Amino acid sequence: MATFPRTRLRRLRRTGALRELVRETRLDVRDFVMPLFVAPEPQLNEALPGMSRFSLQTVVREADELASAGVGAVLLFGVPEEKDDEGSGAWDPDGIVQRALRELAERVPELVLLTDVCLCEYTSHGHCGVVAPDEPGVRNDETLELLARTALSHADAGADAVCPSDMMDGRVGAVRTALDDAGHDEIAVVSYAAKYASAFYGPFREAADSAPAFGDRRGYQMDPGNAREALRECELDVAEGADVLMIKPALPNLDVISAVRERFDLPVAAYNVSGEYAMVKAAGARGWLDERQAALESLTSIKRAGADLIVSYWAKDLAAWL
Ligand code: PBG
Repeated sequence: MATFPRTRLRRLRRTGALRELVRETRLDVRDFVMPLFVAPEPQLNEALPGMSRFSLQTVVREADELASAGVGAVLLFGVPEEKDDEGSGAWDPDGIVQRALRELAERVPELVLLTDVCLCEYTSHGHCGVVAPDEPGVRNDETLELLARTALSHADAGADAVCPSDMMDGRVGAVRTALDDAGHDEIAVVSYAAKYASAFYGPFREAADSAPAFGDRRGYQMDPGNAREALRECELDVAEGADVLMIKPALPNLDVISAVRERFDLPVAAYNVSGEYAMVKAAGARGWLDERQAALESLTSIKRAGADLIVSYWAKDLAAWL
């Protein structure tokens, strides 16, 4: 093998044009999904624009802008007017997400509509499933029915794919069965297959008003120390009928993204979550780093690790940057 001085890897780094020519990983805005929060009242978040809330009126305009900029897909989250113990707003046919879906499906038909399927934004206690009085934790099997109902209401309202993010055991199968039984065999299930209990969801919980009122989510979301367990989660979700496997958060789990890419042939998604976005935004605002460069570098590394599609609050900015 030729070594220095004959071999000089810097030769191909000499000019921008050369670097372009040999670049292994490129970002393409068509691989990106923009999360959108829909709420009864719009709420601008100037510090974190990706965490702003849109009303039913303003979400259509935003979706239009995204589609014209080249972003092909959105992931909808709802902040309901009222919450209750069960989280019944999640499957209300006239709930905030269902109404947004009907509007968007009609007015921006070119956009792929994904929905987050979970109860935490709709429950008064902020947990992702059924909580019984005087009992710690979330009841798994009772939650499945509510998630299935939620997914079905999204499909009825025009979702292209539903994304269960609650981390109950058996939810992908429950959702798939409910969709098929109702004649929605065309609707895809994008499973948040390996979702870790993460501090990086902080800004999201503020935007979606979904922080747990007591305790935490470690009894259902994954322990960050575990990677083999992520593969088991994926295996089960594939067996239950998942169409896409998602890993989340992205940057702390690049090894998991890469392992899932190696092991499975399904499309792999990664969620570059609110805290990953907020860290860079905050440092950028202080002049400690260049937001755009840091964002591009982060997203490139997520793609290089093996993600086919990436959910990111930078999706809209990215369309302008690329
Ligand atoms: C709902 C859900 C959460 C996120 C996506 N879906 C919050 C949570 O699990 O606490 C987090 C997304 C982000 O931080 O950007 N369960």
